[in-house]
Amino acid sequence: MERLPGFRDFYPEPIPHTDVWSADARQFIFEKWRTVARRYNFREYDGPPLEPLELFTTKSGDEIVAQLYNFTDKGERAIALRPEMTPTLARMIAAHERNYKKPVKWFAIPQLFRYERQQKGRLREHFQFNADIIGETDPAADAELIALLIDTLRGFGLTAQDFVIRLSSRNAWHDFYQSRKPKTENGNEYKFFQVIDKLERAEPEESEKKLSALGFSLAEVNQFIEAGKPTAELESILQNLAARGLREFAKVDYKVVRGLAYYTGVVFEAFDAKGEFRAIAGGGRYDNLVKLISGGKVELPALGFGMGDVVLLELLKARKLLPPFDSRTDVFVMIEDESFRPQSLQLIQDLRTAGYAVEFALTPAKVDKQFKRAQELKAAFTARVENDAYVRIRNLKTRAEVVAGFADTKNHLR
Ligand code: HAM
Repeated sequence: MERLPGFRDFYPEPIPHTDVWSADARQFIFEKWRTVARRYNFREYDGPPLEPLELFTTKSGDEIVAQLYNFTDKGERAIALRPEMTPTLARMIAAHERNYKKPVKWFAIPQLFRYERQQKGRLREHFQFNADIIGETDPAADAELIALLIDTLRGFGLTAQDFVIRLSSRNAWHDFYQSRKPKTENGNEYKFFQVIDKLERAEPEESEKKLSALGFSLAEVNQFIEAGKPTAELESILQNLAARGLREFAKVDYKVVRGLAYYTGVVFEAFDAKGEFRAIAGGGRYDNLVKLISGGKVELPALGFGMGDVVLLELLKARKLLPPFDSRTDVFVMIEDESFRPQSLQLIQDLRTAGYAVEFALTPAKVDKQFKRAQELKAAFTARVENDAYVRIRNLKTRAEVVAGFADTKNHLR
């Protein structure tokens, strides 16, 4: 049986084949995401991987809706696997916002599903670090969120030479659109944003055609991008980042506008500095989504970003920033004399209770075989019950040996 295309198997290191993924690397990434999020005082939340289809068809936009994994369940409900976390967050916030002081700062690490064409950096399933701030309109919140994004990437050892945050604003594009749109147009603004979103990957002739159908020219669009004049909100974010010493990580770039329909203001994407990979992360303001999803009952400004594990891992590998992932066996308890197995099990239990990672032979085995296994596991120590009272501890690196009392063993493993 083969796994589905675009899905991944995660194996413990060393991974047995190039077409499988490292469970250790995944854990490493999750831990870093959590550590940095907590430093910024974000709290962790989660929601269900299956949601009513309608949650995503309301406001995510055509592209993501075309990529939905959806079906009818046995109760005749229209269901979708979540392709993104933001609508779930908006639903959760709308339901219980009164219980939380604003601004709410929350993060999650959901697994997401999109029926995409499989390509470098894009699969049909990925894990995404989501960090969002709800209930604050001031650009100080945008700066706080972007600082978190920058520090998350720095946390992996990436520097200003490795990545850049491209800052933009749908407000700027909105003003551009409204001031130059044809008199007769109605409701094509999101279509226009989608053309801008695709500018970098589409052929210029194709973009020109689409833009002129909307009453614009590629030349005027390019002129606006090249001028790159920051709006007041972008200026304020850049100053805030500068005060934190993070200015060098961000630049204004109006080529970014984001594909999702619900964004309303500042938008941004993180890219590797050489432009070799797809976006590492993307986000922005979505001040109307909570209102829309709550049917007008709750109105709260919001902003956030999502960072996938796929591109991030590719980049960390390319920059050689992944640590080695050895098994972390602290002690291998050798059972030379089977008559000491009960005492050995007691010792193993004590050491595990004290927090050590302990391994041993589950069934009788020759001593040299046990020792070989301890070496393969790169255990720091071996411990052997000598008699009813004493344990012989050996440091496998220094080869130093000590004999300790039973209860004292754990103190010799530091
Ligand atoms: P997004 O730009 O669709 O935004 O996804 C964010 C990031 O998730 C991308 O930059 C990429 O790293 C990763 N990603 C997306 N699709 C795939 C895929 N098929 N395979 C691998 N990685 C992928 C959102 O999802 C927004 N909901 C983010 C957000 C949170 N905005 C506000 N709050």
